Amino acid sequence: MKTRKKENWGSQLGVILAVAGSAVGLGNFLRFPGQVATHGGGAFMIPYFISFLLLAIPLSWSEWALGRYGGRCGFNSAAGIFSLAAKGRKRWAYVGALGAYLPICISMYYLFVEAWCLAFAIQYFTGILASLGLNVPSFLPGTNGPGLFLGSGEAYSNFFASFVGANANGSLYQSADGGFTLTPLLGCSIFCLILNYFLIYRGITKGIEAFCKVAMPLLLICSLIILFRALTLPNPIDQPGRTFLDGLGFMWNPTRPGVTIWDSLSNPEVWVAATSQIFFSVSVGFGLIVTYSSYVRETDDIALSGLTATVSNEFCEVVIAGLMIIPPAIMFLGAQAVEGNLDTFSLGFNVLPNVFEKMPCGQFFGFIFFFLLFLAAVTSSLSQVQPSVALLEEGMAYGRNVSIFISAIFSTIGTLILCHYSKAMFALDTFDFWVGNFGIIFLAILQTYLIGWIWGTPRMIKELSGGARIKVPFFIGPIMKYVSLPYLLIISGFWLYQNSWSRFQTIAEEPLARMIVGFLVLTALFYGYVTWKTLKRWKEEGKDLVRIARESDEEWVIKNKNQK
Ligand code: TRP
Repeated sequence: MKTRKKENWGSQLGVILAVAGSAVGLGNFLRFPGQVATHGGGAFMIPYFISFLLLAIPLSWSEWALGRYGGRCGFNSAAGIFSLAAKGRKRWAYVGALGAYLPICISMYYLFVEAWCLAFAIQYFTGILASLGLNVPSFLPGTNGPGLFLGSGEAYSNFFASFVGANANGSLYQSADGGFTLTPLLGCSIFCLILNYFLIYRGITKGIEAFCKVAMPLLLICSLIILFRALTLPNPIDQPGRTFLDGLGFMWNPTRPGVTIWDSLSNPEVWVAATSQIFFSVSVGFGLIVTYSSYVRETDDIALSGLTATVSNEFCEVVIAGLMIIPPAIMFLGAQAVEGNLDTFSLGFNVLPNVFEKMPCGQFFGFIFFFLLFLAAVTSSLSQVQPSVALLEEGMAYGRNVSIFISAIFSTIGTLILCHYSKAMFALDTFDFWVGNFGIIFLAILQTYLIGWIWGTPRMIKELSGGARIKVPFFIGPIMKYVSLPYLLIISGFWLYQNSWSRFQTIAEEPLARMIVGFLVLTALFYGYVTWKTLKRWKEEGKDLVRIARESDEEWVIKNKNQK
């Protein structure tokens, strides 16, 4: 039997940066402003903060606790750790495997959007994107000849659409005469895949931690530059009377002329959107932190680390992204243009170039902005790949390299599907719905139930308090059991009721949706098979989950008695 060297994070700061890096991503800088804009500005912020307090904090703490406990018992994958927490029950290993499966499926489209950011940063760097509205370059399809000068808003959305291949399938690699051409976006997608898997290959400390230690401070510097620019912007000349305060008012005022606060709060859709945003952004609820925290040392302070990582994410989202994206966009373009951008990621790519164009040194700031997005995306996508590598490595007899290779194949196939089926971003949307919304909420419910009702919140609090320099409030336990879980059930009930029917219909009607869901199901079957093999292998090796769980239960009982 191959014995694996136990990997650990190099330092406590390193693990905080890695977890914060996993949380701070495109969700903060693109998805959040988009959600605020489309769900009523200030009114959205109320359910958003409630979800943060009732779901994000208790769930993230519970994951840190469960992860360190599992790591101590010799497991790194959520499959092993979930089963352990459920007294060795096998079906929980399959639930835990979802914690590797869902993130790797998310990586398939996340890597693609990551490539957009890199490609846009390069376009700004080379100056192509800096003044599109003033002088549309002739490489834009259909724009050579008369009609060269579009209004800038339209010019940027046209550029974006053709750049990401939204006009036709295959346009990211086919030239006009049908031959192969390497478009910037395809090149960047391949580069992002290689970069991520290279860092994963370097390992927990030398790859993920080392990269996050450089990228996170750099990200903070870049965002402070943009923030400074946003806060010092002169009022727009062509919009007399509009100021930065209008933007702030849009984001923070829960009422609007003709709309009361109750109008918004009584709309379940706003609650659903706020809850999904919290899950996506904090990346909590699907066992990802469990994997990261299993590499923590016994003496590390996980209570403080968990809180620091979660709060840093909120700082980047609400303070930094909230100040640097929404107010300038509202100030220059007006609420209507911003609210009209209904796509998840489009606010940044369609709307902001207009803002950069109107500010002095827009090219520089545009570059910094998209480079920042790229860095934030890489630290997040690493966290989407590592759980799968951990599961394959731990469960199958494969070594690290084979585990990485298999995970890479899945990410690559997914990303290539998106590079081909780029039309209207239908494929991206399908992936995001089934994995990023449906899958995540489903797993979050199971995980909250597991920790709250099976593993038990007293153990969670005990585990958290070991090595902690802050006192974990006792009411976190009852909140997990009696508030977070029912809250999640109610919200997801509403959400299923509202969304799922039309989505099932789409599967029936659209061959592409069928193909993608089919691919996701096949991938799920593979991870199911891996879990089955893993359980078998652990049994053969005498790594009996039931026994390990029982021993640690007994230890827990004795410890508790001694303390009384
Ligand atoms: N939290 C990240 C963001 O805000 C996204 C992310 C990272 C994620 N890892 C994840 C989302 C795993 C779902 C699953 O962009």
